Amino acid sequence: MKDLEDRQERIDNLKGMGCSRKRVEDARFTQGKGNYVDDVNLPGMLHGDFVRSPYAHARVKSINIDAAMALDGVVAVLTAKDLEPLALHWMPTLAGDKQMVLADGKVLFQGQEVAFVVAKDHYIAADAVELVEVEYEELPVLVDPFEALQSDVVLREDIKDEKEGAHGPRRHHNHIFLWEEGDKEATEQVLDEAEVVAEEMVYYHRTHPCPLEPCGSVASMDKINGKLTLWGTFQAPHVVRTVASILSGIEEHNIRVISPDIGGGFGNKVGVYPGYVCSIVATIVTGQPVKWIEDRMENLMATAFARDYWMKGKISATKEGKITGLHCHVTADHGAFDACADPTKFPAGFFHICTGSYDIPVAYVGVDGVYTNKAPGGVAYRCSFRVTEAAYFIERMIEVLAMELNMDAAELRRINFIKADQFPYQSALGWEYDSGDYHTAWDKALAAVGYDDLRAEQAQRVEDFKAGKTRKLLGIGLTHFTEIVGAGPVKNCDILGMGMFDSCEIRIHPTGSAIARLGTISQGQGHATTFAQILASEIGLSADSITIEEGDTDTAPYGLGTYGSRSTPVAGAATAMAGRKIRAKAQMIAAYLLEVHDNDLEWDVDRFVVKGAPERFKTMKDIAYAAYNQAIPGVEPGLEAVSYYDPPNMTYPFGAYICVMEVDVDTGEHEIRQFYALDDCGTRINPMVIEGQVHGGLTEALAIAMGQEIAYDDMGNCKTGTLMDFFIPTAVETPHYTTDHTETPSPHHPIGAKGVGESPNVGGVPAFSNAVHDAFRAFGLRQSHMPHDHWRIWKIASDLGLHG
Ligand code: CDP
Repeated sequence: MKDLEDRQERIDNLKGMGCSRKRVEDARFTQGKGNYVDDVNLPGMLHGDFVRSPYAHARVKSINIDAAMALDGVVAVLTAKDLEPLALHWMPTLAGDKQMVLADGKVLFQGQEVAFVVAKDHYIAADAVELVEVEYEELPVLVDPFEALQSDVVLREDIKDEKEGAHGPRRHHNHIFLWEEGDKEATEQVLDEAEVVAEEMVYYHRTHPCPLEPCGSVASMDKINGKLTLWGTFQAPHVVRTVASILSGIEEHNIRVISPDIGGGFGNKVGVYPGYVCSIVATIVTGQPVKWIEDRMENLMATAFARDYWMKGKISATKEGKITGLHCHVTADHGAFDACADPTKFPAGFFHICTGSYDIPVAYVGVDGVYTNKAPGGVAYRCSFRVTEAAYFIERMIEVLAMELNMDAAELRRINFIKADQFPYQSALGWEYDSGDYHTAWDKALAAVGYDDLRAEQAQRVEDFKAGKTRKLLGIGLTHFTEIVGAGPVKNCDILGMGMFDSCEIRIHPTGSAIARLGTISQGQGHATTFAQILASEIGLSADSITIEEGDTDTAPYGLGTYGSRSTPVAGAATAMAGRKIRAKAQMIAAYLLEVHDNDLEWDVDRFVVKGAPERFKTMKDIAYAAYNQAIPGVEPGLEAVSYYDPPNMTYPFGAYICVMEVDVDTGEHEIRQFYALDDCGTRINPMVIEGQVHGGLTEALAIAMGQEIAYDDMGNCKTGTLMDFFIPTAVETPHYTTDHTETPSPHHPIGAKGVGESPNVGGVPAFSNAVHDAFRAFGLRQSHMPHDHWRIWKIASDLGLHG
């Protein structure tokens, strides 16, 4: 008994996997001791600011910088002409396109960068921006992607005659690519012959990740030793280093990229922005450090947007509700430049996960990318590449099909789920789902909310509404989503040619503490807390004795960064594998110290024990000391390991979400009565961190579904460039969430973990939206576009004739 207690105490002391260890980062953050890019201040530092276009489409006839240069404190004003000799007036995008760094002859979206003013302080720079005189000639504006594909107006004059783009043929001067997956002919045949077909246009509107901290950089060129140091809001610092080297011609070893603390990324900080390039050029030109920090309006109007997918779907089924086929055509509005952040081979990201949680025998997806006069981007805003679009599409199609079949939507899902014994499951669109148990999760979710009672209450509410006893309807928003996270593998996935592996390097110190460095970078996810927990369980040192460091390319091993919930599936795996290398060497050292053969030892929590002789052991601390202080024949001194992990497959977390919502027919207001979220992310490293991720993701999903959008008028003016217009929920709008879980480990991940950070957004958006639709289902509502703000909900009721 004593031994067992002692063992349990040793396990508890580790604070390893499964423990709700408190976030070690928070002591710093809650005391205002974070160190963000804007906190970097260097001697002699200059400040950059942009002149931006007021027009969405215009020719730039002239730029006069004389008045700006005459202002005291202005050091330089850069235009495309200054960047052209360096071949830096355009830059490559992550999607194989190119983008103007500074307006080269014309502007293509409101807020586009036209000139970069460099001054002694930020206020002088801002004043000088006002003094730069730009003469524009307005051109016709295209903000509708369908119209753009028909129009004679040429947006991208630089490539107007090119019939081939980075992703194949272009059929019109405003067309970017057509990307297809699945069997089109077979799908069309199934749809033609089907007993029931439901057809709908599902629009997932344009929105924006809007992290609390906007984007920025500080570039500092040390001309004496030829080294460029770049601090910035980078979700992938190593990739930035490689791109900076290619663009600038500076050898990569002479570039040091540092991502300090990052105040939220959500995909917004994956891309390369003109501000980064201009701050680098400016430090090279002036010889002084140059800081560029954008403001909120610049962030919302000019940096990477998300979504803007028009998804035309057809889904077929038998009369009994067994789905037989799925067809989807997407018109994807990519804005002025194709700057989507996706792995190279996937111009529509992983959108072809759109068969969702369902066993659909045949399917086809086609995505047309289109240029318009809007900001470029197309990032995965808290989702793996285009997965939230896919989940929204299929979860809306299921609801529409349920209406067509006059069937309960929960039952329709249940009879079409992939069954537990079908995993690993090969989807009709080419993915191999690693593991899942959807029926168990679904039944647990329905039981938790009392589904049958809710439906009875809803039916009664409809009767009461018709009888004039209430003006509020009840919506039950169902969602069962399947995510796909953890890009690589390297054979399929790369960013600008860099394979999507990730890495971890561990050094054990002689006294039995450690530092581990990773190729990822936390933006609030708590990596310093959770990666130490993985290591604690693997190497038997307390998580409190392990420092986790990320984000400095001079010290961290090369990695592809943090986005799309890839940190745990890829870098988390690298961490476990590097830990196992440490343990393998430790076993040799322990065998020497205990004078036994390696095979006579077994691992027990924090030590190697001689089999059958539990009193004979060496703890990891003993071993670490010996590694540095004893000459061990055949074993190098020291205790270090590195792992570069190329995942064999992605991981497929899933979840069942149910939102119960009251909708006021007369005011369009909504009230979320209950939100139940069951997540399955395989092995859970830190339940408390997971819960925090789910709360945050659900709140962003609430924002997107219920109010948040980047909207333009017909002139291409961005109507939502401030937080007065762009909805960010506060504690007032945020409902209470009930979280739950099942645990289906990934069979190919070393610790069975799948990602979780994006799941609540992927599942949350359809759950909120389905609740709104479901409230009006009894009155015939099939599809209404998000965001469901009060006005739009009121309009639904009005269009359905519910205002009497
Ligand atoms: O790539 P990103 O960090 O955004 O997403 P993630 O891999 O889903 O991890 C988000 C946070 O949740 C990290 O601190 C993970 O260690 C933690 N997590 C966990 O505790 N257990 C899991 N199975 C997955 C993630």
